[in-house]
Amino acid sequence: MLGTEAPRDILIVDRKAEYPAETDVDKVMWVAMPRKTVSMTSLSVDVSTGIDAENAERIPSPSIGRRLFALASWLTTPLLPDDYLELVDPLWSSRGLRGRVEAVRPETGDAVTLVIRPGPGWNGHQAGQYVPVGVDVDGVRHWRTYSLTSAPEHPDGCITVTVKVVPGGGVSPYLAHRIRAGTVLRLGPAQGRFVLPRPLVSRLLFLTAGSGITPVMGMLRSLAARGEMPDAVLVHCAPTADDVIFGAELRGLAVRFPSLRLYERHTRVDAGDPHRGRLTMAQLSIICPDHAEREVWACGPRAMLDDAEAHWRHAGIAGRLHVERFHPVRPAVVSGGGAGGGGRVRFVGSGREADADGGTPLLTVGEAAGVLMPSGCRMGICHSCVTPLVSGRVRDLRTGREHGDEGELIQTCVSAAAGDVEIDL
Ligand SMILES: Cc1cc2nc3c(=O)[nH]c(=O)nc-3n(C[C@H](O)[C@H](O)[C@H](O)COP(=O)(O)OP(=O)(O)OC[C@H]3O[C@@H](n4cnc5c(N)ncnc54)[C@H](O)[C@@H]3O)c2cc1C
Ligand code: FES
Repeated sequence: MLGTEAPRDILIVDRKAEYPAETDVDKVMWVAMPRKTVSMTSLSVDVSTGIDAENAERIPSPSIGRRLFALASWLTTPLLPDDYLELVDPLWSSRGLRGRVEAVRPETGDAVTLVIRPGPGWNGHQAGQYVPVGVDVDGVRHWRTYSLTSAPEHPDGCITVTVKVVPGGGVSPYLAHRIRAGTVLRLGPAQGRFVLPRPLVSRLLFLTAGSGITPVMGMLRSLAARGEMPDAVLVHCAPTADDVIFGAELRGLAVRFPSLRLYERHTRVDAGDPHRGRLTMAQLSIICPDHAEREVWACGPRAMLDDAEAHWRHAGIAGRLHVERFHPVRPAVVSGGGAGGGGRVRFVGSGREADADGGTPLLTVGEAAGVLMPSGCRMGICHSCVTPLVSGRVRDLRTGREHGDEGELIQTCVSAAAGDVEIDL
C-alpha cells in the first residue's frame, strides 16, 4: 500500500488503536491513500497533518506544516519521514512517545530504578502519578504501569520508575536484570489520581508496603524539593531493613525534616516481637493514634489495602483514604462453565480463536492465543485496552455485571466471556 502510485499529499492515518497499542506493527497499519479518501478509525489523529493530535504542536502552523510534511512524505516514499528521524534519534517519533534508559540503579536485592529521558511530547507529571511503559521482551511488546518515583521538579528533565521483581513475571525480571542503558522504551502520558491536593492538607499519613512506596517516594521527593514538608507520618512495611526500597533516603528525609515521622515495620516474623509480622489496623492505631484525623495515601499489597479500606469505611471516613492498587481488586465472580460462564472467543481482526472460562480476562485469553492485545494497567483504570465488541456478551470481573451491545467498547483486562464472544482485534 505504501508504494501506491496514486497522487497524494497526505499521509493516512488508518490507525487501529491509540497508544499503547501502537507498535512497530503500526507501520503496516498506517496507510497512504489518495487525497480526500482519508479513512479514520482513531479520533487521536489530526487529519490536517496526519500526525497524532498529541504531537501536532511540532508542526509550525497547520498549512505550512501540512505542506512540509507532504513534501517530506513525497521525498521519503516508500518510507515515512519518521523512519529517517528515528535513525537520527529514536526519541523523535510522531508514532508515540518514547524514552531512553539513561541509567539502571540497583535499589535493593530485587528492585532497580530506571532513569529515563523522555522524548519530545512528554508533558510532565504530578507526584504520585504513574506512566505506562512499553517494552520488548524477547521480541514481544508488553505494556506495564509504573509509578513515577522522581519529583516533577527533577532538574535534568529525566524521570524515574522503580521496579520490584515479581518472580515469574513477564516484564519486571527483564526490567530489573536484563535491561541496559540506551534501551528505548515506549511511554504513555503520566496519569492517575493518586496525587496530593493543592493546597496541601496540614496532616498526612502515608501507609505503604514493599513496592507500594514508589508513588509516595515521588510525593516525598516533590515535597522535599519544594521545602514544604507538612506534618506527615510514613508507616512502611518490608520484610527486613535491607528490603526497604529507598531506605537510606527515607531515613535521611526523616532526619532532615522533623515534621516527617518515619515508622519502619520489618515484617519477617520473629515470634514475640510486636514490631514484626503483618501490620494490623489495631497496631496502626498505636503507631499513629491520630490516624483517623489525617488524610491518608495507601499503596501496598492487596491484603493491606483491603484491611485499610474496611477500617476507614467502618470508621465512616472512607473519603479520607486514597488508595493506589498495583493489582486488580479481587474478581467478583469465579470461573466456571454454563450460561454466562465462558465460551468461544473469536478475535475478528486477527482471525484467531480460543476457548475462555468465565473468570479469565479477555486480555489474557487474547495474549495466550497470540493476538496483539493493547493494554496498560491491566486492572481497569487506564482504558488502554478498550476494544469494540462485535457480538456476544461479557462479564465485568470487578462487579459481576453482564453486559454487551454490538459495537460497545469493552475493557478487555476486566471483562470475561459470558458465552461466545467476538471482538474487533
Ligand atoms: C497504577 C500502577 C502502578 C504500579 N507501579 C509499580 C511500581 O512503581 N513498581 C513496581 O514494581 N510495580 C508497579 N506496578 C506493578 C507493575 O505494573 C507490574 O504489574 C509488575 O511489575 C509485574 O509485572 P510482570 O510483567 O513482571 O508480572 P506479570 O507477568 O504481569 O504477572 C505475573 C504474576 O504475578 C502477579 N503479579 C502482578 N503484579 C504483581 C505485584 N505487583 N505483586 C505481586 N504479584 C503480582 C500476577 O497476578 C501474575 O500472577 C504498578 C501497577 C499499577 C497498576
Ligand atoms: S489495561 Fe488499563 S483499563 Fe485495561
